[in-house]
Amino acid sequence: MLKVRNLTSGYDRSQILFDMSFEVDAGEAICLMGRNGMGKTTTVRALMGLLPTWDGTIEFEGSRLDGLSAARVARQGLGLVPEGRQVFPNLTVHENLKVAAANRRGDPKPWTEDRVYELFPGLLERTDSYANLLSGGEQQMLAIGRALMTNPRLLILDEATEGLAPVIRDQIWDCIARLRGLGQSIVVIDKHIKRLLGVVDRFYVVEKGRTVWSGTAERVRAEENTVKQYLSV
Ligand SMILES: Nc1ncnc2c1ncn2[C@@H]1O[C@H](COP(=O)(O)OP(=O)(O)OP(=O)(O)O)[C@@H](O)[C@H]1O
Ligand SMILES: [Mg+2]
Repeated sequence: MLKVRNLTSGYDRSQILFDMSFEVDAGEAICLMGRNGMGKTTTVRALMGLLPTWDGTIEFEGSRLDGLSAARVARQGLGLVPEGRQVFPNLTVHENLKVAAANRRGDPKPWTEDRVYELFPGLLERTDSYANLLSGGEQQMLAIGRALMTNPRLLILDEATEGLAPVIRDQIWDCIARLRGLGQSIVVIDKHIKRLLGVVDRFYVVEKGRTVWSGTAERVRAEENTVKQYLSV
């Protein structure tokens, strides 16, 4: 579904991505992991058309995304839950979901507000609350709901469990597992690898703007020490 090949990118003259290569199959959930500052969010920005691709290719469902504007990338069906949530603080839960709605590709079973509330029952009670009055966990659920309302072919979650209490994190992971059960293709960026082992199909380690290791959940378990070394400071 998504093929990233030898992607290089960065900010102005500062190169951050040197050789990013990874793939996502349809219906698969993959995880990008790596220490702070290794280029995971930069990779997401390049994928979404928020940063230019300097070299390499991004292919999505057979067509090239590199060189497209962020708006066109979104129209192709990439949905992002950005680092730091970024919901509209002065809109209610209902309004946040409503303004995000876009069934650009005519999905026959589009996401609706009701389906988002089914996924996150806690949000239903908060439908008329302003987003800035929600807890961190509720804001994160709303951010995921907003991305789903665009009916993404591929959903990308950048540190969706960052700063949340363990019990709330579990809810987010359960949600990711349920979405995957529905056939949603997903890219997760997260640090809690142990918990993700049961949720994600394959893992990639990102180091200094490159993918340096990849493997299935079984392989992560079998090569725990190698993986730990990549992730330890
Ligand atoms: N807007 C920016 N302008 C210049 N450099 C940036 C910018 N944003 C990030 N960087 C640099 O790019 C490098 C990679 O950052 P990035 O945010 O992609 O890392 P990350 O893997 O997502 O880290 P984290 O786990 O902390 O989220 C870092 O050295 C960072 O300082
Ligand atoms: Mg990041």
